[in-house]
Amino acid sequence: MENVVRIDRDKRGQPSALDVLTELTKADMQRVNQVIMTRMQSPVALIPQLAGHLIASGGKRLRPMLTLATASLCGYSGDRHIPLAACIEFLHSATLLHDDVVDESRLRRGNDTANVLWGNQASVLVGDFLFSRAFQVMTDDGSLDVLRLLSGTSAVLAEGEVLQLITSNDVDTSEDSYLQVVSAKTAVLFAAACQIGAIVATRPAAEEEALESFGRNLGIAFQLADDALDYSAKQATLGKSVGDDFREGKITLPVILAYRRSDAEERNFWRRTLEQVDQQQDGDLDRAIGLMTKYDALADTLTRARHYGAMAKDALRLFAPSPMRDALTGIVDFSIDRAF
Ligand code: IPE
Ligand code: IPE
Ligand code: MG
Ligand code: MG
Repeated sequence: MENVVRIDRDKRGQPSALDVLTELTKADMQRVNQVIMTRMQSPVALIPQLAGHLIASGGKRLRPMLTLATASLCGYSGDRHIPLAACIEFLHSATLLHDDVVDESRLRRGNDTANVLWGNQASVLVGDFLFSRAFQVMTDDGSLDVLRLLSGTSAVLAEGEVLQLITSNDVDTSEDSYLQVVSAKTAVLFAAACQIGAIVATRPAAEEEALESFGRNLGIAFQLADDALDYSAKQATLGKSVGDDFREGKITLPVILAYRRSDAEERNFWRRTLEQVDQQQDGDLDRAIGLMTKYDALADTLTRARHYGAMAKDALRLFAPSPMRDALTGIVDFSIDRAF
């Protein structure tokens, strides 16, 4: 399998927090990648072909690394975290396949999306396969606690995507409703990925709750940063099309803040472009970014992300200092300051 890790050194040439976590989880992650490659196989050739296109094109592998890292933080020395981390990445991959169909996205991890290459139907069906495969891997683990956690998680993931569909094109969406969507579609999977570390290590409830809180708050911060990046990133670095959320009429925090702070004429612009996306014209995305800059909407989205990031870091304080705890703390800042 190709090297899935993008090296992202900071200005002083220091390895980024993602590199540090990658290095600390390297040996385990190789085993996780092996499970992923084995378990995505199927006699129906289109399945490994399409799933392999997404999976081999990289991705940060952040969620499975969180499972490996939290298991290590909890002093776990068994093997259960390996297939369970693979299972987490399968759930993530399945939601990405479905999400790109719903969002009509054309670029992911620097490549054409599966829906562009094979069509919506194949993408949805292979997404279903990956969900089902994830559940097979879970039942192989045999723990009812894990099954309960991850089946609940995947139901909430789907609810989050449906909830988002309902709020899209509605510029009056509140920040609370937006946070509800973010918690459901993104934060619960981060939370579960981290909680599993404590479950396999049979740690006390306080530690399991701390890791759940770490993952949940990190996940919210991660999605807020993602929503800012959709307007501000360099497309080549991000590996996704900048402006997808705008073209789709998705109501994310940068839009909510800019809309609230806009005058009457500017609000008409937001309504025209987001309520009826087919009315969008050349230059509209630039104007939207201009208004976000005028009203500090992107900077304030990241300020909100830092607030959740601070809660994530505090949750880790329950654990004794260690290189792994430092790496997880570093991942919080990475998730907010990232460029991809
Ligand atoms: C993308 O997640 C979906 C969001 C929750 C924003 P990632 O940014 O972790 O995607 P990959 O796996 O690294 O491509
Ligand atoms: C994340 O939302 C949805 C998932 C949890 C898959 P986005 O729609 O913002 O994710 P990207 O930007 O397409 O990766
Ligand atoms: Mg999307
Ligand atoms: Mg996004």
